[in-house]
Amino acid sequence: MSRPTVKILPSILSADFRRLGQQLEEVERAGADRIHIDVMDGRFVPNITIGPLVVEAVRQSTTLPLDVHLMIVEPERYLADFARAGADILLVHQETCPHLHRTLSQIKELGKLAGVVLNPSTPLSTLEEVLGNVDQILIMSVNPGFGGQQFIESSIAKVQRLRHLLDEHGAQAEIEIDGGIDPATAPRVVAAGATLLVAGSAIFRAPGGAAEGVRRLRASIAGVQTAECKRSSPQSR
Ligand code: DX5
Ligand code: ZN
Repeated sequence: MSRPTVKILPSILSADFRRLGQQLEEVERAGADRIHIDVMDGRFVPNITIGPLVVEAVRQSTTLPLDVHLMIVEPERYLADFARAGADILLVHQETCPHLHRTLSQIKELGKLAGVVLNPSTPLSTLEEVLGNVDQILIMSVNPGFGGQQFIESSIAKVQRLRHLLDEHGAQAEIEIDGGIDPATAPRVVAAGATLLVAGSAIFRAPGGAAEGVRRLRASIAGVQTAECKRSSPQSR
């Protein structure tokens, strides 16, 4: 039984936007696997960030796949725009999707990988009916809206329970985690079963710079055993 490789996804929310292109180059050269982009609307979360225009600019500045985290109400209205802008993975919050099955189908119809995100207070049981329809499930380990917040400890147990739930259902989705991931928390979430690690401040605010941030995070998980799972091959891209 093989384990998927753990991937590192720098979140540009904590990047220096005056030199975003350069920062993207730095993390790509340092071995980052994907770029995570946080889209916030000031309604679902108390912060406003960026839209398709910036996603398009990022698309032109890196060859890495773009993981687009939509913290917006009615995300179905904008899926096509973000797909056109260059997103490879579109992640919607369970809390914003009364017709989650339909929204996930829409993402698939656009030819993109589909992800669902759960806030810290949202139970895993809300995803039971769509486990077979998602490529990745993102467990928020902070309340969404801002970078640099403290990791919520109960997220570890939530990842473990999700790992078991996926195995029980024979579902192939990868487990992603976002919020407060740094060299101290990373090995713990990997051991619990997460294979996609999003990190903002631990990378872009790292004392030695973003490349050093990626390397430190990578080093922190070297040799850590990912929780057993039934995936036979790592997801492409
Ligand atoms: C928070 C965002 C995160 C954020 C994480 O709502 O979804 O992606 O950038 O930042 P850190 O890694 O600093 O907690
Ligand atoms: Zn995010």
